[in-house]
Amino acid sequence: MGVVRRLSEGTINRIAAGEVVERPASAVKELVENALDAGARHIDIVIAGGGRDLIRITDDGSGMSADDLALAIERHATSKLKADETGREDLHDIATLGFRGEALPSIGAVARLSILSRTPGSDTAHRVTVEGGQVSPVEPAAGTVGTRIEVRDLFFATPARLKFLKGERAETLAVADIVKRLAMAHPEVAFSLTNETRNMLRLEAEMPGEVGQLGRLGAIMGRDFAENAIGIDAARENIVLKGFAGLPTYNRGTAQMQFLFVNGRPVRDKLVIGAVRGAYADYLARDRHPAVALFVELDPRDVDVNVHPAKSEVRFRDAGLVRGLIVGALRHALHEAGHRASTTVADAALGALRPVTQPSFATGGFARSYAPSAPQGGFAEPAPAWQGAFADLGAHAARIVAEAEAADVVPLSADAPSPVLPLGVARGQLHETYIIAQTVDGIVIVDQHAAHERLVYERMKKAMAERGVSRQILLIPEVVELDEADAERLAARAGELAELGFVLEGFGAGAVVIREVPAIFGKLDVGALVRDLADDLSEMEEALSLKEKLEDVCGTIACHGSVRAGRRLTAEEMNALLREMEVTPHSGQCNHGRPTYVELKLTDIERLFGRR
Ligand SMILES: Nc1ncnc2c1ncn2[C@@H]1O[C@H](COP(=O)(O)OP(=O)(O)OP(=O)(O)O)[C@@H](O)[C@H]1O
Ligand SMILES: [Mg+2]
Repeated sequence: MGVVRRLSEGTINRIAAGEVVERPASAVKELVENALDAGARHIDIVIAGGGRDLIRITDDGSGMSADDLALAIERHATSKLKADETGREDLHDIATLGFRGEALPSIGAVARLSILSRTPGSDTAHRVTVEGGQVSPVEPAAGTVGTRIEVRDLFFATPARLKFLKGERAETLAVADIVKRLAMAHPEVAFSLTNETRNMLRLEAEMPGEVGQLGRLGAIMGRDFAENAIGIDAARENIVLKGFAGLPTYNRGTAQMQFLFVNGRPVRDKLVIGAVRGAYADYLARDRHPAVALFVELDPRDVDVNVHPAKSEVRFRDAGLVRGLIVGALRHALHEAGHRASTTVADAALGALRPVTQPSFATGGFARSYAPSAPQGGFAEPAPAWQGAFADLGAHAARIVAEAEAADVVPLSADAPSPVLPLGVARGQLHETYIIAQTVDGIVIVDQHAAHERLVYERMKKAMAERGVSRQILLIPEVVELDEADAERLAARAGELAELGFVLEGFGAGAVVIREVPAIFGKLDVGALVRDLADDLSEMEEALSLKEKLEDVCGTIACHGSVRAGRRLTAEEMNALLREMEVTPHSGQCNHGRPTYVELKLTDIERLFGRR
């Protein structure tokens, strides 16, 4: 101890490599990003042994000269970060995926790396190799224009890292995942991924523009995503948001179908994930997740990509603006989608009726991990939207519902002026639960409870938006014990909370006292709700989460107060329900993301009977 010594270059490189190259998938990511930065139109990837034994990436990009090759494998050597006339580089203006000059030397430090490259102007290619940090001189070699990089025996020089790798299959899946993410962001580039000899992914180059983008997304996320997604195109100040958002009924049990890109870079950004969750909170139970592919484009100077060694996180200069744009655009799109439920709903219904199940939509053997093999999986198991906080809702909920119903007069629609009724005319009720309606070219089956629940919920939300939140003073103020940071966080936002109907203030360290609550809550368990709020605040820093919370509560009340399955309805009541669904936003799914109705076209029914 006490003697300070400089580390050898080999050790420095291995330490750096530990951050940049965590597993085979991260090496693949770096190499594919380099090919994209080099302007490649075709990128072919071959792996073996989950990427541990071999990664070979061939591109038709701009290639490297002999001099560039020698430099490329040195640390902190890059062609991408431009210097100004004073020699200073601007780390805040990064338009390429790479910028540090770390990837190739890092891979070379821990594996056997061989690079073969040729520029369009040169009549020969050159090769350089690095094995565990040992560089061999650049030599002429035979090769076509572009670059072929081979990485063998990854981590042979850092055996400890090998022990942390998952099994071959898991590593292979991680490689496929990153290739898919990069391919989604670059539809104009053709990709192939081969595992040993098996073809895992083959993507043709797509046309530029929205059609090409949707084509690529469909090829990766499954055709049913493309059919059940709404296009997003919004801008605020200098930020543009594009992409596709899945209909709420097309939901998933995990967030794996959420793909987020910032300036062509796949990221897993908490802010963006939170914004997506917020935008859909209104339509989905907490444990259901939407499928989205969102592309944020903004001035590189407004986003810092240099915050994570794998560049998988970014920091926005104006995070609130980005979040607002995403939430606003998604909500708007979902609103516009109106009562359209996803086609998978009808497919699932037909699938259940058909004697032979159809093959999965997935393209290529591998897309299976993304595309649901059984389309109905998405909404099979609804979960309660609200856990824990509210034990008794009964009479109170019924009263709220009665009030909400009395407040709005629903125009009776049997004599509606429009001859086109998308949800048709009620022909009957089955099992006191389902309404059967006839449309111009098919039939509609409505789940009366789910539909009514959604309508009541939308009415309550509307009332809240129009008349504000009325508060109710608690006879005995309630003291809620929390952890100190949570209590502070709540107290700091007392003003905002008051607007939403909560009047509370700090009560010594680690507690708040609640004096008033939104009247809509009635006798609900206020303490539990406030604790939940505090949890959410620590996760999310936007006021949005508070509003969502209230909407969540409305959802629960609506659920308990709605027409139960099992009640007989008159023809007028049924038609009134259908007409109201037609004019109510979001009525295609209930508050848990389940569909409220299924439409079967006559052509579908004819096919069922083999008449087509
Ligand atoms: N496939 C390729 N085609 C053409 N040039 C390449 C290719 N791969 C790497 N290079 C060149 O080698 C240099 C070093 O690559 P490396 O990935 O190590 O760093 P970088 O991409 O500049 O930055 P980062 O470490 O952030 O990825 C690049 O700047 C680029 O000039
Ligand atoms: Mg790079």
